[in-house]
Amino acid sequence: MNPNAGLDAVKSFKSAAWTSTERAQIYDRTTSSTSDLTHFVTSEYIGLLTQRIAPKSAVLDLGCGTGVLTKALAALGHDVTGVDISQAMLDKIDTSGGRITLRQGDVYALPFADASFDGVITRWVIPHFRDWPTIVREAARVLRPGGTMVIDHTSRANYALAAREGALDHSTFGYDPRVQGGDKTVFYAAASVDELQLAADSAGLDLIDVAPLGFFRQNAVIAAVLGGEGFQTYRKAVDAFYQDPGARAFIQWFEQNITRALPLDMVNGMGVVLRKRAAG
Ligand SMILES: C[S@@+](CC[C@H](N)C(=O)[O-])C[C@H]1O[C@@H](n2cnc3c(N)ncnc32)[C@H](O)[C@@H]1O
Repeated sequence: MNPNAGLDAVKSFKSAAWTSTERAQIYDRTTSSTSDLTHFVTSEYIGLLTQRIAPKSAVLDLGCGTGVLTKALAALGHDVTGVDISQAMLDKIDTSGGRITLRQGDVYALPFADASFDGVITRWVIPHFRDWPTIVREAARVLRPGGTMVIDHTSRANYALAAREGALDHSTFGYDPRVQGGDKTVFYAAASVDELQLAADSAGLDLIDVAPLGFFRQNAVIAAVLGGEGFQTYRKAVDAFYQDPGARAFIQWFEQNITRALPLDMVNGMGVVLRKRAAG
């Protein structure tokens, strides 16, 4: 029996899940808002990379989807390459501005030469794959020495705190990081700082920062307190609350000044900053 059969099935499912035109259309529509809380968290996330790279850097967006990060980075003046397994997703990206290059390709075997990019960024791809350190190693290959990589991940410590005394119902939270848990096809990965450090070491990267991101958006501790249905109601309420200018200013202040200082068991999302070590 192949011990990786389950893993391979999840990988194939995850890689195929976005390939239809219909799926790309829905994804494009549901992620294009520039006035919701997710957009704000996205901007904070992109800042982890842009504050560390020179103007007009060559940046790779791994699993770029419909180009939310690709387009934002190009608008900031960087030369961005987006790679994705789904041509339907890539087809949604307007490249007429001239700073965007698109390639269909697999994050496990990137169609680029070693040391091609000054920066690499990826969002909502790494936490889908249990063997995510392999993706990090492949991304490090195409990053030049001294270059910066920013990946997102989900905090294992947040799940551990939330699941104390069985308080977190993973199936209703929507993100189930357990190896044996739930439906294999909706399996997500999670990481501790030690696991991030190990992955960084094996890819020749220094772990520069692990930034807690998005306290209000997706938090297993809040989900454990409220229960599945309560958490869905809470999420809708936060989205509505965020549309009020005063509430928006408060949430943005909290995310920038308080979330950043919280321990990783209090926050589900992490922005991870890595730097490629010099050769030799
Ligand atoms: C949740 S979407 C994230 C898209 C985008 N990064 C964003 O922030 O909106 C996941 C993306 O990963 C892509 N993907 C899945 N498996 C892949 C693989 N093996 N190689 C490249 N892209 C992959 C999917 O096609 C999809 O566009």
